[in-house]
Amino acid sequence: MADQTFIMIKPDGVQRGLIGEIISRFEKKGFYLKGLKLQNVEKSFAEQHYADLSSKPFFGGLVEYIVSGPVVAMVWEGKSVVATGRKIIGATNPLASEPGTIRGDFAVDIGRNVIHGSDSVENARKEIALWFPEGLAGWTSSQHNWIY
Ligand code: PPS
Repeated sequence: MADQTFIMIKPDGVQRGLIGEIISRFEKKGFYLKGLKLQNVEKSFAEQHYADLSSKPFFGGLVEYIVSGPVVAMVWEGKSVVATGRKIIGATNPLASEPGTIRGDFAVDIGRNVIHGSDSVENARKEIALWFPEGLAGWTSSQHNWIY
């Protein structure tokens, strides 16, 4: 099976009207949308998602940010989608993100950096299980090999 990654459009990305732009970039690249939902998350859920960062000084602010409004949770599938998704997103600090990346084009503040993407195949698996316990859409990329 092709790789899958978890992508979240954070509250600033939703409120600034960037949902379509972000989905478009992943679609046009040739990745397949396997899960999509707009939702508000509880504080405890955000803490679980970012559990690895619980000792960081910015942890509290990061959790407050994520629960401040609805987020768009997505699963994308395709060849090397975890690593390539991170390239499409750009560096964590938007001031260091290259123009042409999502953060490079749409953000300036590390605490309002628009989007999250899994940083490894293993973490993608964990994040997809956390955010999509109900499972994913049933179509398979093998039906659409010509897109690549
Ligand atoms: S670290 O410190 O290296 O583990 O952090 P990093 O891998 O660069 O980033 C992990 C996530 O934390 C977010 N982050 C921040 N949020 C708010 N304020 C500050 N200062 C900050 N620094 C890092 C960063 O955006 C990453 O979130 P996600 O959602 O995974 O992109």
